[in-house]
Amino acid sequence: MLDKKYRDEALDIDKQDLSSIPHAVGWESPSNIALVKYWGKKGIQEPINPSISMTLSNMHTQTRIHYARAMNEHGRVWLRFNGTDNHPFGKRIQRYLDTLDSYFPFLKSLDLHIDSRNSFPHSAGMASSASAMSSMALAICSIEQNLREEPLRSDHFFQKASYMARLGSGSAARSLYGHYVEWGQHAYGSDEFAHPYAKKIQEPLSFLHDSVLVTSTEPKKKNSSSGHDLMEQHPYRQARIEQALNNLEKINRSLKEGDFHSFSEVVEEEALSLHAMMLSSRPGYALLKEATIRIIDELRAFRQETGTQVTFTLDAGPNVHVLYPTREKEKIRQWLHQQLKPLCENGKMIHDFTGNGPEQLHNGTY
Ligand code: DP6
Repeated sequence: MLDKKYRDEALDIDKQDLSSIPHAVGWESPSNIALVKYWGKKGIQEPINPSISMTLSNMHTQTRIHYARAMNEHGRVWLRFNGTDNHPFGKRIQRYLDTLDSYFPFLKSLDLHIDSRNSFPHSAGMASSASAMSSMALAICSIEQNLREEPLRSDHFFQKASYMARLGSGSAARSLYGHYVEWGQHAYGSDEFAHPYAKKIQEPLSFLHDSVLVTSTEPKKKNSSSGHDLMEQHPYRQARIEQALNNLEKINRSLKEGDFHSFSEVVEEEALSLHAMMLSSRPGYALLKEATIRIIDELRAFRQETGTQVTFTLDAGPNVHVLYPTREKEKIRQWLHQQLKPLCENGKMIHDFTGNGPEQLHNGTY
């Protein structure tokens, strides 16, 4: 539906004078952690089930683009990712920019100098593509905004950026907004773009800490996109879709009532089901490490003994996201430090929390 609209309104700048418009844009966009997981695609980058995530804060990508009318007939792109010109992820970004060409035909008339950097290790199952692609989508949409005679209204701008981010990485669609974010058709909502969670959330669930216990920073042996592909013929595909729909209902109730216990049940079931889907794919594969399982066992034992409000989730990787409300922060940090740090690779933990969404860094000349 929006595909046609965005193609119809595509902006070309063949003859436009660019001298008076800004020439640099920059956005910082956060990572997000899914609580009900998107796993499996249909159509063009649309999810087979709706998902809900919490936006993070410290884990983010900053993307800055300097642009000018192309020196030659066709525009060129210079791309630095995490400080290097030939980063392997650069190729994926380049492919993504090629995908965007038909929505933003003005790109072919521009030379782009792109600098994109993550605040956290890349490709270690920490949704680095979500923050990278969403910051890239925002930067490109901002260039368009600067070139338009009539800029889009803020809500339309973010909706378009979410749509475009989705084309780069599904989970990136949700990084466009702060707090809790939904993506996918359900009672309401869309498969084409994400939207902020609109219902009231009761304490202590409106703001959570997320300490990521990094058990491995090795590149994953299977990326998410091929994992999604295996859902097409997955023996449990239908059951998984139903489970996600049920869990979305349940988590809605937990958020409304501020019920940490039922929230934990859903979030842990989702994390373990995601990995169960990987294990039972054809062919099956495992991304979990021994340390992942040990951390989960330790966390459950600690919760049982102390009654602490703490839960965990997993991304498509071996690192454990430990979630807890502020009132448990001191107790949990001490426990993490003493008991779980030794299970992490080089003792690495990343402390994060619910974030407010992307921030514009720059819009002007250079
Ligand atoms: C397990 O968004 O990384 O993190 O759309 O192929 O880029 P692509 O996949 P991606 O998949 C993320 C899956 C997940 C769950 C989630 O974030 O909902």
